[in-house]
Amino acid sequence: MSRVLVAYATRCGSTREVAEAVGRALAEAGLAVEVRPVGEVQGIGPYRAVVVGSPIRGGRWLPEATGFVRKHREALRRIPVAYFALGLSLLEGTEAAEGKAAAALEPARKQVPPVEVGLFAGALDPRKLSPFLQLLMRLIRAPVGDFRDWEAVRAWTEGLAAKLKEG
Ligand SMILES: Cc1cc2nc3c(=O)[nH]c(=O)nc-3n(C[C@H](O)[C@H](O)[C@H](O)COP(=O)(O)O)c2cc1C
Repeated sequence: MSRVLVAYATRCGSTREVAEAVGRALAEAGLAVEVRPVGEVQGIGPYRAVVVGSPIRGGRWLPEATGFVRKHREALRRIPVAYFALGLSLLEGTEAAEGKAAAALEPARKQVPPVEVGLFAGALDPRKLSPFLQLLMRLIRAPVGDFRDWEAVRAWTEGLAAKLKEG
């Protein structure tokens, strides 16, 4: 059975942990899974499906996540692809915030349309940021803490696993 790849980008590690949780839930659903940083993926050949995850920074997915989708678009268009994003704006729980977060995925969507998109609240630990970014986040009064909803991540992944097993 060929594998499902969970490829992620991260700056402070919270998206890596979500990618690992997605990987575990896919494995529990009976799929063979590999979890890798986008920069360590050689090619899409060995995989039957790919999940790509990144935090949102400055309204965008990290450039290496969008770059990964662009680089591998030909291969990715032939298999099911899902995207997820972490952001603090998703804490607001408003449609406007969801819309903004979804817009961060537009460049990737244009390259390869996904079968599923997950938008999750993220985490902010100022100790992991440069002094400049610490100041910036204080100025914009960004919420500090870990707001990741592991149940939401699991529920989304179970839905995705069911879809991947159908197809
Ligand atoms: C400099 C900076 C910019 C950010 N910009 C956004 C943003 O535009 N929208 C959003 O929802 N979250 C934003 N966030 C929150 C991050 O997406 C969130 O903290 C995420 O969990 C970080 O992921 P990582 O730990 O994998 O790097 C920003 C965080 C930082 C530090």
